[in-house]
Amino acid sequence: MDLSFAQTHIEAEILKRDENVKESREEPPAKKQRIGNKNSAEITKLIKEDIPSSSFQQRCSPRKRLDVRTSNESLQQKSTSQSKKCKQKFIYGNYTKYYGYRNMDKVFHDVRLDVFDAYYDLFAEKTVLDIGCNTGILTIEMAKRFKVKSIIGLDIDRHLVDQAFKVLKRRKKSLPFDNESKRLEIFPFNINFVHGNYVLKDDVLLEIEKPQFEIVLCLSLTKWIHLNFGDKGLKQAFRRMFLQLKPQGALILEAQCFNNYAKRKRITDTIYHNYRAIEFFPQDFHTYLLSAEVGFKSCELMGVPDHCKAGFQRPIYIFYK
Ligand SMILES: C[S@@+](CC[C@H](N)C(=O)[O-])C[C@H]1O[C@@H](n2cnc3c(N)ncnc32)[C@H](O)[C@@H]1O
Repeated sequence: MDLSFAQTHIEAEILKRDENVKESREEPPAKKQRIGNKNSAEITKLIKEDIPSSSFQQRCSPRKRLDVRTSNESLQQKSTSQSKKCKQKFIYGNYTKYYGYRNMDKVFHDVRLDVFDAYYDLFAEKTVLDIGCNTGILTIEMAKRFKVKSIIGLDIDRHLVDQAFKVLKRRKKSLPFDNESKRLEIFPFNINFVHGNYVLKDDVLLEIEKPQFEIVLCLSLTKWIHLNFGDKGLKQAFRRMFLQLKPQGALILEAQCFNNYAKRKRITDTIYHNYRAIEFFPQDFHTYLLSAEVGFKSCELMGVPDHCKAGFQRPIYIFYK
């Protein structure tokens, strides 16, 4: 067993117990904006209003560029009663005990790491974005195990991001104080977490995307984007992943199969509507990612994690830019 992984996991569990989990998980309502046919002035205005001003500059940090506040209208339009219901139902797959549940087969060990092990060089010294990082346990482990240059974990659930920061803080405290690691931004000082919705409010915002990562991780996330934001939202997210990758960068994709969606289809009205309207199925993802609309050049199977539960034996693919 990897003791450091176990340590991180235990820390997260302790935090969860100590935390007041009643805290609201919903985004504060953001001001509404009209998005219609836009000319460049309107686009600029939209960008400036939606993104912190520093993010608007080309030379801004990845963190700021990612910090697009969750303001998707579908998030705001939920009624109070629906949001109460959603709070308990983890509508984004934002499970607070996800890693406890997922990794129970082999004590504190995420079997996806065994698949990644064979690709050590793919991650080493690379800039990584982990979309839907949950409590950050896997993000932190990836940073350590593969000696990435830097890694940013992004999650739609603010509470989970707070948890991730706390786990990271404890992790830093548990290490002997090392000014040099801090100065050189090496583990664990090369990890950051950001709160935000990866699905942009409008496709037009893709126009300002800049390549900034060498690896993008999209693990067990597609179902949740698909259910909440429909075919359009998921396609936009795939295009955004491509645009955020540097040339020769790679997307690591672990998608849920469609059979896996049905169980969650009634969580909210929006999800039910999106589920019924799906025309872009997981078996179409590869073709879409490799099409001219997105642009990936090639794809290969990394492996299938040896999980004791069939539902978690999801093939993991790499798409090369
Ligand atoms: C099932 S968990 C997977 C966690 C992690 N990626 C893994 O595989 O171990 C899905 C995570 O994605 C997050 N998520 C869902 N929709 C998102 C979105 N639109 N933007 C960012 N994060 C999202 C959820 O909050 C949740 O933490």
